[in-house]
Amino acid sequence: MPQNSIFTALLWTGFAAGYPWVVDHAALDPRRVDSRQPLRLRQSPSAANCPNNPNHTGAVPYSADYPYCGARNGKPGSTRCVGNIVPAPGDNAHYFVPPGPLDIRGPCPGLNVAANHNFLSHDGITNFTELIDAQQNVYGVGYDLAVVLAVLGVGQDGDPLGTTKLSIGCDATSRTSSTGFSEPGLNGHLKFEGDSSLTRNDYYLDNGDNFSFNSSLYENMSEVARSVSNGIFNRKALATYRAQRHAQSIHENGNFYFDPKSVLLYGAATFLYELFPSGGPSGVADQTTMNYFFLQEQLPPNWYSRSEKFSLLDVVTELLAMYQEDPVPFGANAGVPDSFVGIGTSGITTSNSTLKATPAGIACFLYQLLTENIPAQAGGSNVPDARLLAWVVNQINPLFGLGGTLGSLACPLVTV
Ligand code: HEM
Ligand SMILES: *[C@@H]1O[C@H](CO)[C@@H](O)[C@H](O)[C@H]1NC(C)=O
Ligand SMILES: *[C@@H]1O[C@H](CO)[C@@H](O)[C@H](O)[C@H]1NC(C)=O
Ligand SMILES: *[C@@H]1O[C@H](CO)[C@@H](O)[C@H](O)[C@H]1NC(C)=O
Ligand SMILES: *[C@@H]1O[C@H](CO)[C@@H](O)[C@H](O)[C@H]1NC(C)=O
Ligand SMILES: *[C@@H]1O[C@H](CO)[C@@H](O)[C@H](O)[C@H]1NC(C)=O
Ligand SMILES: *[C@@H]1O[C@H](CO)[C@@H](O)[C@H](O)[C@H]1NC(C)=O
Repeated sequence: MPQNSIFTALLWTGFAAGYPWVVDHAALDPRRVDSRQPLRLRQSPSAANCPNNPNHTGAVPYSADYPYCGARNGKPGSTRCVGNIVPAPGDNAHYFVPPGPLDIRGPCPGLNVAANHNFLSHDGITNFTELIDAQQNVYGVGYDLAVVLAVLGVGQDGDPLGTTKLSIGCDATSRTSSTGFSEPGLNGHLKFEGDSSLTRNDYYLDNGDNFSFNSSLYENMSEVARSVSNGIFNRKALATYRAQRHAQSIHENGNFYFDPKSVLLYGAATFLYELFPSGGPSGVADQTTMNYFFLQEQLPPNWYSRSEKFSLLDVVTELLAMYQEDPVPFGANAGVPDSFVGIGTSGITTSNSTLKATPAGIACFLYQLLTENIPAQAGGSNVPDARLLAWVVNQINPLFGLGGTLGSLACPLVTV
């Protein structure tokens, strides 16, 4: 059975001829609805044909004129972190620029959008500090959640100990790695992923490159939102749709694998109504908003970040509420469709494999995932890389330890 999903999506745009770094700003006014065709033509390349843009520009540097959250160099934001209009009027450098054929895009709409607005490097080769800054500056993600997601991304699929780079899509080892060992990028299997994504195909063992945005899945998700909540992508709609995807994967994917790490898929699902609507959860999580993020991969016109930060505790609380609205068992198919066997896993599951947890329990479970899923030093050894564990612990213990924003949870900590 596959241990994880493999994602090898790449966005190709038919319309972005040439290289969009220097462009006609008039054409990029974010307050103008982009009438061009959505970014739909996608490929699933192997590492060998992952695009390579020689112009690695980096995210647009911090500017005192347009500080957003004031987050830079991977530090907590220092100014007004929420309720910002993004991009700020006049901040041409952060207006939407569609990806060109040499730019990498991947399975995460939140990061694809950030790259298209140059909050991450436009070529799709980002790094640890860009990720932490962009999540805060664009979306009002809290510092603790921003760090945890960046540690997951760079730590699992990028180059934490050297360049700190990460490809937000296909394998770009030649540009991310300082060691030459393979770094799959976000299309590669993250150790915290399971099958049954919202809009991406499951990974099938027989052709591991087969991953892409699936417009039929997106249409079905939209249909669920219409039928259960008047077209609003809220907790109820996403709970229903996630359960539907679970049932669908059991029925269609003989290798369906859904372990407790899949709670992260519930976390991502909360982003549709917590982070995507203008103003956050007080805004409208409707079809138009979703189309901007999933199809155009662009911030909607006149878009404001949420009015309160979205912290790690916020997301675990909300994902648990979503899960409990329509709980499904953890487990796996036994090689053929409809052969699902539930699994019991320590920590957050019970003998009947249904998640029972508290927000604190899930937060501590995430800590465990980060510190226990340490990849071996690339190159085939099965021995977890001690330096990598130290890197992870150095990033997250300040958050989870005494005095950190998550210190009161008293998660058992790893020390190195
Ligand atoms: C360092 C930060 C982040 C990393 C490394 C990351 C990585 C990923 C990955 C690997 C997936 C695919 C998961 C799967 O389908 O199994 C994903 C999905 C997703 N991400 Fe992110 N993400 C990050 C931050 C964000 C942010 C800030 C947002 C929202 C603003 C976001 C929104 C989403 C959504 C909505 C999905 C679900 C897409 C779908 O299932 O179709 N992500 N992310
Ligand atoms: C990279 O940038 C240089 C200078 O701006 C330009 O001449 C060149 O065409 C660009 N190449 C690509 C592949 O974007
Ligand atoms: C990450 O990228 C930024 C540009 O966005 C750059 O200033 C910074 O030096 C990079 N970090 C590392 C460790 O290379
Ligand atoms: C997945 O693979 C199948 C068989 O190779 C192919 O027909 C299908 O188009 C692929 N789908 C995507 C999204 O790549
Ligand atoms: C989209 O997902 C459905 C359901 O899993 C699948 O039958 C279909 O082949 C997928 N389409 C593509 C293009 O991959
Ligand atoms: C959409 O949902 C219907 C059932 O409501 C299902 O028969 C169909 O296979 C689904 N399509 C995809 C692409 O998931
Ligand atoms: C399994 O857990 C669920 C959720 O708490 C509960 O409703 C159900 O009764 C349990 N089933 C068994 C067989 O214990």
